[in-house]
Amino acid sequence: MFDLIIRNANLPDGREGFDIGIAGGKIAAIEKSIAATAGETVDATGRLVSPPFCDPHFHMDATLSLGMPRMNVSGTLLEGIALWGELRPLLTKEALIERALRYCDLAVTQGLLYIRSHVDTSDPQLVTAEALLEVKEKVAPYIELQLVAFPQDGYYRAPDGVASLERALDMGVGIVGGIPHFERTMEDGARSVEALCRIAADRGLPVDMHCDETDDPMSRHIETLAAQTVRFGLKGRVAGSHLTSMHSMDNYYVSKLIPLMAEAEINVIPNPLINIMLQGRHDTYPKRRGMTRVRELMAAGLNVSFGHDCVMDPWYSMGSGDMLEVAHMAIHVAQMAGIEDKRKIFDAITVNSAKTMGLEGYGLGIGCKADLVVLQAADVTEALRLKPNRLFVIKAGKVIARTAPRVGELFLAGRPASVEMARDYVPQVQQR
Ligand code: FE2
Repeated sequence: MFDLIIRNANLPDGREGFDIGIAGGKIAAIEKSIAATAGETVDATGRLVSPPFCDPHFHMDATLSLGMPRMNVSGTLLEGIALWGELRPLLTKEALIERALRYCDLAVTQGLLYIRSHVDTSDPQLVTAEALLEVKEKVAPYIELQLVAFPQDGYYRAPDGVASLERALDMGVGIVGGIPHFERTMEDGARSVEALCRIAADRGLPVDMHCDETDDPMSRHIETLAAQTVRFGLKGRVAGSHLTSMHSMDNYYVSKLIPLMAEAEINVIPNPLINIMLQGRHDTYPKRRGMTRVRELMAAGLNVSFGHDCVMDPWYSMGSGDMLEVAHMAIHVAQMAGIEDKRKIFDAITVNSAKTMGLEGYGLGIGCKADLVVLQAADVTEALRLKPNRLFVIKAGKVIARTAPRVGELFLAGRPASVEMARDYVPQVQQR
């Protein structure tokens, strides 16, 4: 007897028409046809059923603040940082919580149930950390929210950067962040990487740094991050976010760098939407894409996962909490449109992100958490192409969100009455 059976599901690995039996909030069976009954049945009607999306890089303290107190006129990263600095003194805990919760609601409807958010620790008041720690608790029943202590204005460059970051960790923020390319000098950047890795090692925490988010090919803090990761015994627990300078680096240097990153088991987090929007801003033509070397890093065995980074904030006026939109952009910017490429890209917003975030019990295996998404698409390729509706979002074996299929009505003589971009049948949930 199961609590829930999802029938006729296609799986991300290509298996078709499987039933998934769920008991006690966990996946208990994946079989061609489960004979048993269940309290509830979801008929996936040959649609893709995937583990939930995971966003390993987001800024929940800034999300949905677009236009406050003004718009980013130049559209650059640096004006975005300056604009956030104008907004920061105006932030209240209540408003931060309200915006974050609104975003989490949106995320759930998109099947996004795991989020790692950076929390700006530059302001010693730490209203941001207080608010997001509260949000983390509030959303815990439906979203696992990880928080990174992020010295946006520089660990050494901001007047209270060092003390504030430590205090945020004391408050319960569980990951050590950094921004070495924004420190005053390359030397300060390298020193910050060392100091922050030391803190992580001392406290037994993971590291996730904004690293080399610049077009400057000489911004090589990732090299230092890889070296300090090995030195402090942090292998596999360190993420390098953005790494956009790698796009512009000399190829010979990169041929040395990537094996060093692989040795340190660095988790790589490009943010395709933001990278294509913010990088190359000082170029005329040709204009660089700015995203790091996704194909080459994957080929070298590095764990690459994509982040959304921003939704309607000082840096990015777009975004919808949809990791398929992130992956869609990645396919284009990385020029990875082959069938195998697309599988790898889908992994980058699911299993790879889960690995980056150190999630336990994630996935489509017996004994894994019954956190699942039924998409209005037959397979991974179709999901990436259509960014389809999330028909059912399931958390611990319970349906927590539902969206009707997207179907267009037609009023053309001699044509069918409706058209669906994927296939025109509709999954049903039956209550017993
Ligand atoms: Fe970021």
